Amino acid sequence: MPQDHIISAKHLSRADIESVLDRAAEIAADPDAVADRHDGKLLGTLFFEPSTRTKMSFTAAMKRLGGDIVDMGPVDQSSVKKGESLADTVRVVEGYADALVMRHPLEGSAKMASEFVDVPLINAGDGAGQHPTQTLLDLYTIRESAGFDDLTVGIMGDLKYGRTVHSLAHALTTFDAQQHFVSPESLKLPRGVRYDLHEAGASMREHTDLDEVLDSLDVLYVTRIQAERFPDEDEYRKVAGEYQIDAETLEAAKDDLVVMHPLPRVDEIAPDVDETDHARYFEQAHNGVPVRMALLDLILEGNL
Ligand code: CP
Repeated sequence: MPQDHIISAKHLSRADIESVLDRAAEIAADPDAVADRHDGKLLGTLFFEPSTRTKMSFTAAMKRLGGDIVDMGPVDQSSVKKGESLADTVRVVEGYADALVMRHPLEGSAKMASEFVDVPLINAGDGAGQHPTQTLLDLYTIRESAGFDDLTVGIMGDLKYGRTVHSLAHALTTFDAQQHFVSPESLKLPRGVRYDLHEAGASMREHTDLDEVLDSLDVLYVTRIQAERFPDEDEYRKVAGEYQIDAETLEAAKDDLVVMHPLPRVDEIAPDVDETDHARYFEQAHNGVPVRMALLDLILEGNL
């Protein structure tokens, strides 16, 4: 089914996902073949929240396809500071670009903005909501590292505010993965996400202790506690520093366990894990370029 906008992983079928991953693998194998493919096309980038990986890899992806970006720049240097509404901003910027990528702190903002534009709008993270393009690169990394057959994934950390988790959990359901969610009680998956996963037929269990499941995992997806989303700093302090792993923790894991993280990390994965064969998070971040090239290519060609 053609996708006008990419708002949520909930709207991506297994066939949609596989078409992006297959195209990404082709591009990774021969990037020169697409170097001029979108010559003259422009991607509008609107980041109302900080980003390193998502913004830079979308920029690299568009340039490596022969196109370019037009960037809103920092929010405090834009007309948002003069009180311009999000609806007006995206209606204006769609006139400058062939597609838009937007990150915004409010959950639901990407869906709302998409209703005001005719060019494709890609959600690069809406508050604690969704981050569907992160999920595509996560799945690419999982397919390359562990495959999807009989897959058991542990997802650990801030499951309440972690938008990468909400997107990934939906997508893993379409691949029939067994999912174990590990978090403090106060950071469990939101009720709405749990309900949607159950409705989608997810095979899932929730835990407060990684030791209960570590030795059964093929992939351990670790996430940062999202300090910026806590309404109360004391509540953040209660859970900060919990759920850290180091090389010693992983001695109880399968030899071929793959450790992933959307990054940035703070202290949840000790640097000594970087030197182990388990670590895949830097490769995962690098996969953002071919995966976002593939997504942009399919969207700009109207093939997704
Ligand atoms: N993973 C991710 O979204 O990273 P950035 O916040 O740096 O874009």
